[in-house]
Amino acid sequence: FERPDDRLPKQHLLVVANRLPVSAVRKGEDSWSLEISIGGLVSALLGINEFEARWIGWAGVNVPDEVGQQSLTKALAEKRCIPVFLDEETVHQYYNGYCNNILWPLFHYLGLPQEDRLATTRSFQSQFAAYKKANQMFADVVNEHYKEGDVVWCHDYHLMFLPKCLKEYNNKMKVGWFLHTPFPSSEIHRTLPSRSELLKSVLAADLVGFHTYDYARHFVSACTRILGLEGTPDGVEDQGKLTRVAAFPIGIDSDRFIQALELPQVKDHIKDLKDRFAGRKVMLGVDRLDMIKGIPQKILAFEKFLEENPIWRDKVVLVQIAVPTRTDVPEYQKLSCEVHEIVGRINGRFGTLTTVPIHHLDRSLDFHALCALYAVTDVALVTSLRDGMNLVSYEFVACQASKKGVLILSEFAGAAQSLGAGAILVNPWNVTEVAASIGYALTMPADEREKRHRHNFTHVTTHTSQEWAETFVSELNDTIVEAQLRTRQ
Ligand code: F6P
Repeated sequence: FERPDDRLPKQHLLVVANRLPVSAVRKGEDSWSLEISIGGLVSALLGINEFEARWIGWAGVNVPDEVGQQSLTKALAEKRCIPVFLDEETVHQYYNGYCNNILWPLFHYLGLPQEDRLATTRSFQSQFAAYKKANQMFADVVNEHYKEGDVVWCHDYHLMFLPKCLKEYNNKMKVGWFLHTPFPSSEIHRTLPSRSELLKSVLAADLVGFHTYDYARHFVSACTRILGLEGTPDGVEDQGKLTRVAAFPIGIDSDRFIQALELPQVKDHIKDLKDRFAGRKVMLGVDRLDMIKGIPQKILAFEKFLEENPIWRDKVVLVQIAVPTRTDVPEYQKLSCEVHEIVGRINGRFGTLTTVPIHHLDRSLDFHALCALYAVTDVALVTSLRDGMNLVSYEFVACQASKKGVLILSEFAGAAQSLGAGAILVNPWNVTEVAASIGYALTMPADEREKRHRHNFTHVTTHTSQEWAETFVSELNDTIVEAQLRTRQ
């Protein structure tokens, strides 16, 4: 977190998210190295300095001993971060289990886990208990650090139980909750055994936000159909208490990307990449290695394109950055094997002694290398099977002022609603359609590329993460004032 500009009085904000913006790696008994965490939530919130903000969350590491906990707390305090210490078993049941094996796939329309029924019921119950326990631990830390006047902004599906816990501590606390994933149709949500309890806990917040209007509508429908509450144009009403529900599409800190392209080290990177890929068009995918990102489907579409267009075989390269994530969850381990197998087969099939069609990297790139890669890319492939928003599409557009490359974008990513007019929209499940779109993108006339890029660039540079945060927090403040007025009437 950047230090706020001290010249103006700032809204005090407690950001609560499962993951802190830095992850800790232990170097000695009381020494730590802090690395920036990966993901859309972190990248969106990092550029925000309009607030006097502190961040509460898990540092991604098990610290069982007191010396470690004290020294890490001190190291994180310098970054305006406050840790929640989760033990290994809680992480296993809450984070790997309930969050990433149950809620994550369900919210992305992949359904509940296909386990033996009894085992599912047993593990489901213990995982839900761990989820509630973990949320209570977050609430304890928030309560300890909360001061009157603070606004508490809870984030994501990990913390759906948190608004209720916080209001139980202090009913006057201003609490907002924002979901970074899709909220699915109520028909999907109602398959979840703890469907009602989670909805009720979220409704304890004063303001509930989603990336798109559709997700907000799904949430309101779930509350009306599952809980029998009344949906209003403003949100959900329960016995006279209104919880405001609305869409707040997230953005990126676009200036950070645009300015990075002017740095000498980024210019050097760009030159190296241009030399490296001279004579070939560059296609790019940047994803966490997650089943919702549709990486196998994307690579199969690229294979189909090469198969049907032999002329392109040594004229195009696909760079796929697949950042490992949630590696303790079996589904993610399976996905990694599957992707490696497909990439190996395609490189064996179409590679030569000097080149391969797919450069697949199992790691993240540092910020400058990433900006350079975005800048030299001709076609970006964002083909998520479902995605809350997808900020990679925004980052790509921000770095394309000179090249004006083409964005192929899944119609199932939230970003399709904002960048749809400039991108080529595809159904990622339809490999034939994606392969045809690759051909169209690679041969698109310059004036069409220019027009599409202009639309997207304007959107990305005006709908920034700063604007997103300011709008959410100011609406949260208004919501509370309105509620106070209603109570007085
Ligand atoms: O999109 C949901 C999210 O929780 C984002 O915060 C982030 O992009 C990503 O998932 C990170 O996942 P994790 O914290 O499990 O690595």
